[in-house]
Amino acid sequence: MDTVERRPKKGEEVEVMIETIDRRGRAVGEVDGHPIALTRGIPGDRVRARVTKRRRAELQGVPLEMLERGPDFVDARCAHAQSCGGCRFQDLAYGAQLELLRGHICAALAGAYVPCGEIDPVIGCPEPWKYRNKMELSFGAIRWVEPEEPEGVARDFALGFHAPGRFDRVLDVSECHLLFEGGMEFVVTARELAKELKLSAWNQHTHEGLLRHLVLRRGVHTGETLAYIVTSAGGEVVESFIERYAALHPELSTLVHGVNPGVADVATSSERRVVKGPGWITERLCGVEFRISPESFFQTNTLQAERLFEIVREEAAVRDADLVYDLYSGAGSLSLLLAAAARVTGFELSTEAVADAEANAARNGISNVTFVAGDLAETIASVNERPDVLVCDPPRSGMHEKVVEKVIELAPPRIVHVSCNVHTAARDLARLVHHGYELVRVRPVDLFPHTPHVECVFTLERRAS
Ligand SMILES: C[S@@+](CC[C@H](N)C(=O)[O-])C[C@H]1O[C@@H](n2cnc3c(N)ncnc32)[C@H](O)[C@@H]1O
Repeated sequence: MDTVERRPKKGEEVEVMIETIDRRGRAVGEVDGHPIALTRGIPGDRVRARVTKRRRAELQGVPLEMLERGPDFVDARCAHAQSCGGCRFQDLAYGAQLELLRGHICAALAGAYVPCGEIDPVIGCPEPWKYRNKMELSFGAIRWVEPEEPEGVARDFALGFHAPGRFDRVLDVSECHLLFEGGMEFVVTARELAKELKLSAWNQHTHEGLLRHLVLRRGVHTGETLAYIVTSAGGEVVESFIERYAALHPELSTLVHGVNPGVADVATSSERRVVKGPGWITERLCGVEFRISPESFFQTNTLQAERLFEIVREEAAVRDADLVYDLYSGAGSLSLLLAAAARVTGFELSTEAVADAEANAARNGISNVTFVAGDLAETIASVNERPDVLVCDPPRSGMHEKVVEKVIELAPPRIVHVSCNVHTAARDLARLVHHGYELVRVRPVDLFPHTPHVECVFTLERRAS
């Protein structure tokens, strides 16, 4: 008879051999036959860990000591690597990251019972550092304090990223290896100026404090830089902060100030003022020029976005007589890149993104592309013309059920589904496959090196019923 090993208790110390990293970026191994997920670690690590939770499906824990490092271990670059969580895979060799991501794609499709023809290797980023053309930083009234920091250190101001799992604690970052070249200077100025003027940072518990977000965007091919500062209110002291910030960074192409008095922790604003420049920056991708406003969606890795868009263009294979729908079209990048078709219609929720998309079409002299603003679940309901090609690039949460139903009803012969979340994509693809589509190819591109996210282009063809 098999003996069942005792399940370790909460608080117990155990030794774990890490086997893989799951889709949430957790290091997964086994203790006496019981699965355990740790907050850190890479495959092949032998770790002494403490059990912190006993869930029905798994134990959870935190590593206490690395006893042996896995074969693909590399030194992390960033001083904040242990506390930040922004680049979860920093200590895993880049080639191993790409293998791991491909494994996640295969597992997600298999888990949703989606049969697939070909799954290409993940296309790596030629320069996997400083690739982010956009960074959203939070001001926080409760700074994340490291365990080794002395008692009594100042903790009432931070500018950086939320500590993992802590909505109220902000890690005060002094370096970030994903942020575009020179970006940290804009962060340092904002922090120093706020301290000099004694401006308070937003407190997530009391919903008080003036400074909320600093958003930075860079046009990699144009060299233009945008700063978007969001505060909870206006007033003289805020105006003075904004004016001095602009003066300290004359190289900023544009500076926008937004006011967000609401409680939701989002870098958005109900009132906005352009302090300097046009209120947007420009970027060029695959020969098309784009205007990017503070809140419009734009792919965050410019160089890899170009590779992604070339792949979408190849897979869409539009002909000049085609009608193309671009669902979740953002500022119109894919719509404009597919404008070799007879007509393209983009559908997008954000009115700001649609305004950008229309301006982008005009700026590039493209007249056969139109955009429909609003929630796709509603705007697509009255559409009846069948497109020859349907491109779909939903947010991380995937497609709304009503949108999937409508796509099935419209029955386009070819669908190119682009997604940065293979799990919601697998769910949506499963429904399409169930209704007569075949997933013929998957072409993944790493747009987010050192993170568990991967962008995929899924090509589906409709089979005759
Ligand atoms: C991943 S982005 C794709 C953007 C575009 N394809 C690109 O590459 O620039 C997803 C877009 O979906 C939009 N979106 C989110 N929810 C939506 C909804 N319910 N209806 C329409 N668009 C939505 C977002 O505003 C965002 O612009």
